[in-house]
Amino acid sequence: MSDIPIIITTGTFIFLLTAGFITFFFYSYQQRLTAHLKEKEELKIIFQNEKLKAQLEMQEQTFHSISQEIHDNIGQILSLIRLNISTIKPDDYASTEQKISISKELLDQAIEDLRDLSKRLNTEFVNQQSLSALLQFQLSLIQKAGYHHTTLEVHGEEEANLDPEKKLIIFRIAQEALNNVIKHAAAQNIAVALVYLSDKIILSIKDDGRGLNPSKHSLITGWANGVGTYNMYYRAHLIGAEFSLQSHPGEGTLAHLILPLAS
Ligand SMILES: Nc1ncnc2c1ncn2[C@@H]1O[C@H](COP(=O)(O)OP(=O)(O)OP(=O)(O)O)[C@@H](O)[C@H]1O
Ligand SMILES: [Mg+2]
Repeated sequence: MSDIPIIITTGTFIFLLTAGFITFFFYSYQQRLTAHLKEKEELKIIFQNEKLKAQLEMQEQTFHSISQEIHDNIGQILSLIRLNISTIKPDDYASTEQKISISKELLDQAIEDLRDLSKRLNTEFVNQQSLSALLQFQLSLIQKAGYHHTTLEVHGEEEANLDPEKKLIIFRIAQEALNNVIKHAAAQNIAVALVYLSDKIILSIKDDGRGLNPSKHSLITGWANGVGTYNMYYRAHLIGAEFSLQSHPGEGTLAHLILPLAS
């Protein structure tokens, strides 16, 4: 009989202890869950912000290329037309006819170029383009400027369901790499390769310019003081891609990106 209070006390103690443990585990699980959800939410916000920034930068870069295109290409065509028309001599029938015919051809070209440019300015159109088409357009603008010879090699086909946000970020990384070639490399050739495999996409942008000594530059915080290289690494990381910049003095630079695809 005298064991009963001991059993009750022990039982109560075990019960309270178990209840305490359960409460503790439940509480700490809740805490961890809340922290995890908060972290996920924060990552989502970071990704959204970065996506928006990349979108704005891409538009800015596209506007810049297009304003150059209008100035260098369409502007030049229109100046030629003006020259043709202003040198027409009404009494010289043969030359007038020739100048009018050349002007018509030039006008057709200007109209076609303008139509093409207005399509490029349409965001929806840009979103619908494959990565290779976007790269092709970017390279054709560089090629037209006349300082670089560019090539684009594409292997395989883009999956129709490639995440548009990832596509945008990859394109933005490519734009920065190409910008760097134009600004810093003093290169003659730019070779871009895009390989679509079933489980990954590989993009490489290689120039034959002056290159640089990578050991003198931090590959984590970006090369020298620019934010461009830092952004390329950071954005690649955000979409789960591997990114590297390889360079040696006098041997050009290679920007390389591998995006694993969900199977
Ligand atoms: N393709 C390249 N060839 C030679 N040097 C390069 C190349 N890409 C980058 N660099 C060097 O690395 C430096 C850092 O590049 P980064 O893109 O980070 O900055 P930036 O282009 O100078 O400025 P920002 O991109 O912020 O406008 C450049 O200043 C340049 O010296
Ligand atoms: Mg840069």
